[in-house]
Amino acid sequence: MNITINKSSGLNGEIVIPPDKSISHRSAMFLALTGGKAEIKNFSMGADCISTLNIIKSLGCEAAFLGERHLVIDAKNAFSKELYNLDCGNSGTSMRLFSGILASKPNIEAVLYGDESLSKRPMRRVIIPLELMGAKIKHKDFRSPLTVIGKELYPIDYKTPIASAQVKSCILLAGLNTYGETKVTEPYISRNHTERMLKYLEADIKTEGNTVKIKKSQLCPKNISVCGDISSAAFFMVAAAITPNSDIVIKDVGLNPTRTGIVDVLKSMGADIEILDSRIECNEEVGDIRIKTSELKGITIEGEIIPRLIDELPVIAVAATQAEGTTIVKDAGDLRNKESDRIKCLVSELKKIGAHIEETQDGFIIEGKTQLSGDCEVECYHDHRLAMSLYTAALVCQKPVLINEFQWVDISFPEFLPLMESLF
Ligand code: S3P
Repeated sequence: MNITINKSSGLNGEIVIPPDKSISHRSAMFLALTGGKAEIKNFSMGADCISTLNIIKSLGCEAAFLGERHLVIDAKNAFSKELYNLDCGNSGTSMRLFSGILASKPNIEAVLYGDESLSKRPMRRVIIPLELMGAKIKHKDFRSPLTVIGKELYPIDYKTPIASAQVKSCILLAGLNTYGETKVTEPYISRNHTERMLKYLEADIKTEGNTVKIKKSQLCPKNISVCGDISSAAFFMVAAAITPNSDIVIKDVGLNPTRTGIVDVLKSMGADIEILDSRIECNEEVGDIRIKTSELKGITIEGEIIPRLIDELPVIAVAATQAEGTTIVKDAGDLRNKESDRIKCLVSELKKIGAHIEETQDGFIIEGKTQLSGDCEVECYHDHRLAMSLYTAALVCQKPVLINEFQWVDISFPEFLPLMESLF
């Protein structure tokens, strides 16, 4: 689907943001491990989370929709076969987290495979620590398909070279089914939904600074309610901040501090943003965000904030094109390992739109404020977050922008277009 986007005259109104992708994945995976029955309210209908849902069904869980985004999972027959062929689609989270789950399950052999983009993504980061635990994994030069031959593992004390929630979660999930104490220490703290949800389901898990410790535990089936996705809300926050005559409220957004780097950055850039009605739901902070058209200024984004906004960097780049001065993003080299090389692809497409942006090895530098010309055709490289970032930029372009293959938004946010259009 190719779409043409015209300049917006302002975004106004209130929206409810769809469910968090990371938390949805974990809710289905972890309920599959309980051996019991429980409900998930507000499960993401993005293609990535549907891949996880299909995987737990292939693993023997019954999963039925009781209503819109409302699921009941019954895991009594889960993991009862010996061989599985599991399609992870485009989802790195499914592949990396299921690797940890399956590696620690004796008598199971599973092939985890995915689409073209997932087959190119690095899996060494999970294979190495799992092998240190004694796991047996066959791979193609550290890329998928991965054949995971489950067995009893040994606990490890592992320092991750990068702050990655997928790596940390993979090791913790292997540790959940391993005698002894498994420890993971990260250079900076990445999103901690795994730790919070495992605790909620009564696992023996503790966090001390940048270290998480887990012992073999049986999870309890409990109902889970998923909050809205701050990574999806980010496109709306930036769109409202940069488009003249805008004032929007985004309801029910997950505000876990390991995810709110985007709010901190927009505040530092001078955005007119406030958090309303903050509360705790299912061991996660939730609130509403009000944001209005803002005069932004450039800043430097580096170091420990990077894992707290890793998925938002493409749309932060769009905000930076409309900020006075220079914005520098550093320490974000792992952006090259996402659904696309998000540094190279973002820089090439934003340049076409008229941005003054230069690629660096571990980020980019943007000079603003620029009147974006538009009047061009851009590619999203099969990457949902690039597609939505380019859409956000197009809202302030002088002339229309054609985005090719916009259907890739369905990976995380199938509701994106109608929700955005409801604010025009
Ligand atoms: C995710 C972790 C992040 C993020 C991805 C989802 C997760 O990846 O980019 O979209 O759900 O754990 P890394 O852990 O590789 O940084």
